[in-house]
Amino acid sequence: MKKKILECSNLKKNFGKKTVLDNVSFSIEEGDILGFIGPNGAGKTTTIKLILGLQKITSGSVLINGYDINKDFVKAINRVGAIVENPDMYMYLSGRENLKMIARLYKNIGNDKIEEVIKISGLGKRINDKVSKYSLGMRQRLGIAASLLASPNLLILDEPTNGLDPEGIKELRDLLNRLVKEQKIGILISSHNLLELETICNKVCIIQNGKIIESSTIKDLKERLSQSYYVFEVNKIKDLYKIIDDKLEVFDEHFFRIKIEHDKVPDLILKLTSNNYKVYQVYQSQISLEDAFLQKTGGNKID
Ligand SMILES: Nc1ncnc2c1ncn2[C@@H]1O[C@H](COP(=O)(O)OP(=O)(O)OP(=O)(O)O)[C@@H](O)[C@H]1O
Ligand SMILES: [Mg+2]
Repeated sequence: MKKKILECSNLKKNFGKKTVLDNVSFSIEEGDILGFIGPNGAGKTTTIKLILGLQKITSGSVLINGYDINKDFVKAINRVGAIVENPDMYMYLSGRENLKMIARLYKNIGNDKIEEVIKISGLGKRINDKVSKYSLGMRQRLGIAASLLASPNLLILDEPTNGLDPEGIKELRDLLNRLVKEQKIGILISSHNLLELETICNKVCIIQNGKIIESSTIKDLKERLSQSYYVFEVNKIKDLYKIIDDKLEVFDEHFFRIKIEHDKVPDLILKLTSNNYKVYQVYQSQISLEDAFLQKTGGNKID
């Protein structure tokens, strides 16, 4: 069995009378890249702050590597690297100098470690340039490199894709994939950009109004939500509604989509053909994680 790195159980957070997190439970195992997705104000950053001990937990528990953040804080937080909101860097220093400054805050971080994280960052020679000359994506990479200095096995990134271009996102994805493979870590990555996370993560947790409304692998979520949709290609659309009771979406004069169970597909084909419709093809419709999310949340706008 894979090692459980993070386990949040029934987390609750109140600010005064307002409950912003309600029964939030999820876990991360070694090798997981978990996408923590939700609209603005859903409670992503608050959850992350509770995990990091930056805010007091109202009730529930956070275990990191088996240690309770409330009882064994130092041991629990020992192997956590995090970027919450934008990482602070000294703009007038180079990337390498910044890493050295941060390394000095810890015990036992030697030059070897600094060179190792520089290599992981992929910044190459640019590591010797001043941070003020970096692009946003380069600063994000430096931030991630810095969060790796203490050899974490849990990496927490709050909105790391903010401001990254598609190339930057691809590089982040490669970097995170390399990390989980080579270093046996687990990663929590929050965002409201589903299209980006869909390609980076293997698991997803969707949070809305402080509650987890979906928690599964991305593959399962997509399959589960797409399995009941079928697209039909027929010779004509006219009067279809007279023989089909279920709600259907007509795309053009030959294609329509309908939400039915797998078992019902042969019956529908039979019904169509016996009513003089010609069926050319039927296929399950594929949906993006964004579509799945919109279905789950009932069309909530998230950006
Ligand atoms: N210190 C605080 N006092 C009172 N309410 C707070 C405080 N911090 C956060 N909140 C509220 O908690 C809720 C969750 O906020 P949070 O920052 O966790 O959302 P988020 O999912 O990270 O949103 P975003 O996508 O905008 O970053 C919001 O309604 C917010 O107003
Ligand atoms: Mg936030």
